[in-house]
Amino acid sequence: MDNLERFLNFAEQSPTAFHAVENLKDMLRGVGFRELKEKDPWMMDEGGKYFVTRNDSAIIAFMIPRSGFSPFKIAAAHSDSPTFKLKPHFEDGTEKGYLRLNVEKYGGMIMSSWLDRPLSVAGRLVARDGHGGVVTKLVNLDRDAMVIPNLPIHFNRKVNDGYAWNAQTDLLPLYGEGDDVGKLMRELAEDAGIQAEDVLAHDLFLYSRQAGSVWGAQEQFFSCGRIDDLECAWGCMKALSESETREGIAVCAVFDNEEVGSLSKQGANSNFLYDTLTRIGFALGASDGEIRAAMGDGFMISADNAHAVHPNHGELYDKQNRVYMNQGVVIKHNANQKYTTDAVSDALFTLICERADVPVQHFSNRSDMTGGSTLGNLSNAHVSLNTVDIGLAQLAMHSVCETAGTKDLDYLIRAMRSFWQE
Ligand code: CO
Repeated sequence: MDNLERFLNFAEQSPTAFHAVENLKDMLRGVGFRELKEKDPWMMDEGGKYFVTRNDSAIIAFMIPRSGFSPFKIAAAHSDSPTFKLKPHFEDGTEKGYLRLNVEKYGGMIMSSWLDRPLSVAGRLVARDGHGGVVTKLVNLDRDAMVIPNLPIHFNRKVNDGYAWNAQTDLLPLYGEGDDVGKLMRELAEDAGIQAEDVLAHDLFLYSRQAGSVWGAQEQFFSCGRIDDLECAWGCMKALSESETREGIAVCAVFDNEEVGSLSKQGANSNFLYDTLTRIGFALGASDGEIRAAMGDGFMISADNAHAVHPNHGELYDKQNRVYMNQGVVIKHNANQKYTTDAVSDALFTLICERADVPVQHFSNRSDMTGGSTLGNLSNAHVSLNTVDIGLAQLAMHSVCETAGTKDLDYLIRAMRSFWQE
């Protein structure tokens, strides 16, 4: 199996950030990484490999060189994607004869891409454990179970002239009929091996059932959900799992909630990375000053996907600083520091890629358009170190089904191995 097939399997089995982190943990355990808990004291050895999670939706894995404490070499990506979250009371039987799900937007998605396709539900349930406490269960309905239907064109003649979707009224998925009340939670609870009555709370999200596919004249493209940013999250973790670090502490962080501003305890704009790096230092006997030095002397690669030129809208992209799928890792630039890249971090990352024989491309937005921001500058507010913003070129960012190039994932993995190993 090649890396792209492995990634497509991972994406299919990771409909939510919780599942992505669970699957990354499995990959890391398989190559000797051991789990540390934030609530416990940390002991670690030179040459050891560890990971820690927060909220079960963010994860930081790291590898200590045999030489011991040394500067941090960090990669960061994110586990979440735009979707719809089920509200606390999620059954809506107010339209006679139908049972719909009452959902809320999570992040900035292309709403129309979610219509007229089979959807399902996954996430976590928190239930009574029978001893006065609670237990968390990962769940995935894992079947075609709902659809958000379009209006027929006869009732919405202007839909092709642009339509303002209202998330409260237009985008509720049809799940069943009047007598199906209670069925969804019963089925999820059964999947988790618990009773529906014991479920106290839930974080449940919609996802598309469309399987990943490889396509094109020479099968040079692939499409699936959540390419932004699972492609970078998986690619960086895969590279870490294959690397041996001789100097520098290799760190790979996958944060949650990037799509909604990163301001949660498990987001890039939290103390998760700072706490983890500090605790690594103390566990290895470093002083406060040595830990600060290891941050100051460190380097961070913030990996979040980039915009390939759209085949039908080349006019929306800068003429000289545009990027294409299958042409290498993208270094992202923004004068106003929405991306952290500067001449020094650009040059260092270019050298890393040169060593790995990986091509690089440079992206800047048109000056009359504002682009998105990402993890790097938010994370830098907590752990400030030389950082480059990179990503892989893709189309249709934030559609329920995105497209990327089949060659680029291997480029990323090779670049990251070169970063951590050399
Ligand atoms: Co992203």
